[in-house]
Parts: sequence; C-alpha cells; structure tokens
Amino acid sequence: MNKTVKLVEIGPRDGFQNVKSFIPTGIKLNIVDGLVQAGFKKIQIGSFVSPKAIVQMKDTAYIARKAIEQYPEVEFFGLVPNLYGAKAAAEAGLKEITPVISLSVSHNLANVKRTHEQSLEEIKRIREEFPDLRITQDIATVFGCPFEGEMSIDALLELIGKLHDIGIHAFTLCDTVGLAYPTIVENVFCTVKREFPGVEFNVHIHDTRNMGILNSYVALQCGADSIQTTVGGLGGCPFAPGATGNTSSEDLVYMLNKCGYETGIDFNKLLATAKYTKSVVEGDFSGHHIMIPENPCVVTQN
Ligand code: COA
Ligand code: ZN
Repeated sequence: MNKTVKLVEIGPRDGFQNVKSFIPTGIKLNIVDGLVQAGFKKIQIGSFVSPKAIVQMKDTAYIARKAIEQYPEVEFFGLVPNLYGAKAAAEAGLKEITPVISLSVSHNLANVKRTHEQSLEEIKRIREEFPDLRITQDIATVFGCPFEGEMSIDALLELIGKLHDIGIHAFTLCDTVGLAYPTIVENVFCTVKREFPGVEFNVHIHDTRNMGILNSYVALQCGADSIQTTVGGLGGCPFAPGATGNTSSEDLVYMLNKCGYETGIDFNKLLATAKYTKSVVEGDFSGHHIMIPENPCVVTQN
C-alpha cells in the first residue's frame, strides 16, 4: 500500500472566512509562515471574493503576493467565485484557482448567487480565458445540504460530467456543513473514481459530528488524491447555516503520522502554529488535541 499522503492546508481561506473580527494581515502572514515551517507544501491562501460578501478576505491579493515571493517552493492557490475573482488571482501571481459550485442549487444561489447553468457558464469562461491556470473545482454540499438534505449521487455524476466536458479534470468534494458519514464517503469516492478514471478527487470535510477524521480517512482509503484540513479545526461557510469548523490539521496529522503515513508534516511545529492561531484569532476551534504535544513527557522535561 502507498503510505504517502498529500495534505492541503486551507485554514487561511476556509478557516479565516468564518471569523467575525478582522484578523490583521500581519497575523495571517505569521500563521502562513507557521504552516510552511510545519511542512505544508500546498496551502489555500484565501479567496478572491467580493468584500461585501466576506470582508475577512479583502487582503487575499496582498497575502498571496507576499507568500509567493517568500516561499517559492510552496504551491499556493485561491478560491474564486467568478471570472472577476479569477482575474484577481492571476494578477496576484497564483498558478492555481478553485472556482466553487454547489451540488445543491439552493446553496449555490445562497453562496454565489447563481443557478447551476450560470455557474457552469462562468466556469467555462474562466477555463477559456485562463488556459494556463490550473483549476481544481470545489463542489460544495456533496454529502448533504442545509436547505435540501441528502444529495443524489447521480446528480453529482452529472455535474462532474458537465464540468469535465468544459475541461475541468481536478475536483474537491466538500462536506460543507459536516453531514457526511463513512458509508456515504465510501460510496461517493468509489463511484467517482470508477466513473472518472484518471481524474483527481480531493476531500474536504467539516467536523460537525466529530466524524471529520474518520470520513477523511475513509476517503483516503477509497483513493482520494489529497485531504484538505484547517489549522486548529477553524472554519465554516458563512452562507451555510450550521456549518462548523473543518477537520483539524493537527488531529489528522497526528493520526496519519502514528499510522505510518508519510505526511511531510512536523506535528509539534504544526501544534505550535495551532496554539499561536488560537491565541491570536477569536474563532470557533474544533481541534480536539490542540493542547497536547505528540510526546508529552519529552516536552514537559524541556
Ligand atoms: N472580488 C471582488 N469584488 C467582486 C467580485 C470578486 N470576485 N465579484 C464581484 N465583485 C464586486 C463587483 O465589482 C461589485 O462591486 P460594486 O458594488 O462596488 O460595483 C459587487 O461586488 C457586486 O458585483 P456582482 O457581480 O453583482 O456580484 P454579486 O453581488 O452578485 O455577488 C459574488 C456575487 C459571488 C461575487 C459574491 O456573492 C461573493 O463574492 N460571494 C462569496 C462566496 C464565498 O466566498 N463563499 C464561501 C466560500 S465557498
Ligand atoms: Zn469548507
């Protein structure tokens, strides 16, 4: 079995976007630095959205530029809700973007104010206008929607098919409010992997019912290409009632390191960044083991 796993830190976007009070730009950069020092090689740096929709993200372009300049070895990418956002991301120097569409039409309307047809048209335009940008498409509410409940796997396959036809070959399947459970994750990942061979599928799970680690692990066993998490388990979607924090990076890293996976992440450095984040950001943290170092005895002696 391949015991290497690709972990993608999305705290600077999905984590910060749900924090009410503005996190000063310098603090955001310190946290990004901590994540890089902990070993993350791929980080979602923010989103290029309307500041009227999410004011917390208004400094994303500046942060992206700084991060690209300071850490050329790291892949930074940003979420974009529309063509406007894609242009801003490209201007900031990003090589990869994440447009977002929800499987649930109601959530798509609440989140990006578009029908499926309008979103597909916008994503097509982004694909055409930025042929050199790598696109990883977020599909939100795959495992359940706060407005529509459980979603149909046939509808998911149809949506992926339409996106595939317009040239999208990498996807992140998101459990936007944390409604997933192991058998639905298994069913979804086994099905998409079978129906779309060679296509990239990543997983993004919120930890509402303390199943974030379990669901992420199941996705990994079913062939997920990477797992997204946030430092401290921070986060949520402001346009999805009930959305809580993501699976915490340090909890997942702890488990995978202990299980013999090659994550490339230094748990104790990550924990220090989680503690720092918790001390400077007034957010909703779900990182269960945030205060416990990997080897408590050794650390206590120091
Ligand atoms: N970045 C910055 N500003 C943007 C923008 C973007 N990507 N897209 C639109 N705007 C600005 C427009 O310039 C316009 O500004 P003005 O009022 O000063 O003229 C204003 O926002 C409204 O533009 P419009 O095209 O009518 O957008 P909208 O009001 O229909 O908003 C979205 C649609 C999608 C842009 C907005 O709802 C949004 O950014 N949502 C964020 C969704 C999100 O991040 N969800 C969580 C992550 S999944
Ligand atoms: Zn999310």
